[in-house]
Amino acid sequence: MRIKVSPSILASDFSKLGEEIRSLESSGADMIHIDVMDGCFVPNITLGPPVVRSLRRHTDLPFDVHLMIRDPLFYAGAFAKAGADLICFHLESDADPGETIAKLLSLGVKPAVALKPKTPAEAVFPYLDQLAMVLVMTVEPGFGGQSFMEDQLGKIREIRDECDRRGLETDVQVDGGITDRTAPLCRAAGANVLVAGSYVFRAQDRAEAIEKIRNGI
Ligand code: DX5
Ligand code: ZN
Repeated sequence: MRIKVSPSILASDFSKLGEEIRSLESSGADMIHIDVMDGCFVPNITLGPPVVRSLRRHTDLPFDVHLMIRDPLFYAGAFAKAGADLICFHLESDADPGETIAKLLSLGVKPAVALKPKTPAEAVFPYLDQLAMVLVMTVEPGFGGQSFMEDQLGKIREIRDECDRRGLETDVQVDGGITDRTAPLCRAAGANVLVAGSYVFRAQDRAEAIEKIRNGI
């Protein structure tokens, strides 16, 4: 499967987000990962639909919106309207997963589900056939710059194997602590969409950092 890199703007300079997004586009990013936090589902607050809408005119790259919020069903419409291409909600949120997936499909956005580290792979299996992507969190959601949890590699493998068993080409995304060291472990375990915040934004050369995540060994 083609490996895609989705840099997280959480690690960027929020005072010049438009510029940051254009720099990611010219550095070879495949999509833009936008972390939305509501201060309830996670102990941090980031941004909402008005910011997504403003960013939309700065790039044609797909927006991969990661909702770390308690009520994704309620806010799905606002993010879809603001320009999200894919919306990923947490299975641990308050919303009913089946209802939320149906809502996302009706809005014309790709539905995806995220799993916190303690949630087992099997929890997503009932929804697998309807999803464009499954996100395996490799840190506790809420903050950038945390260390990669190697014990999540088995979960990535279980989800990829189940997709293969059903003949599904579902994207399997990893998010948290992705670097040139951890990316190859995730790719080997079956992940094909790699989110990276700190690693890309701390790099002197963003294009090189993205390329290392995509193809480095
Ligand atoms: C954490 C976010 C991540 C975060 C990753 O809750 O979901 O997307 O930005 O940051 P790094 O790559 O620094 O771990
Ligand atoms: Zn994220």
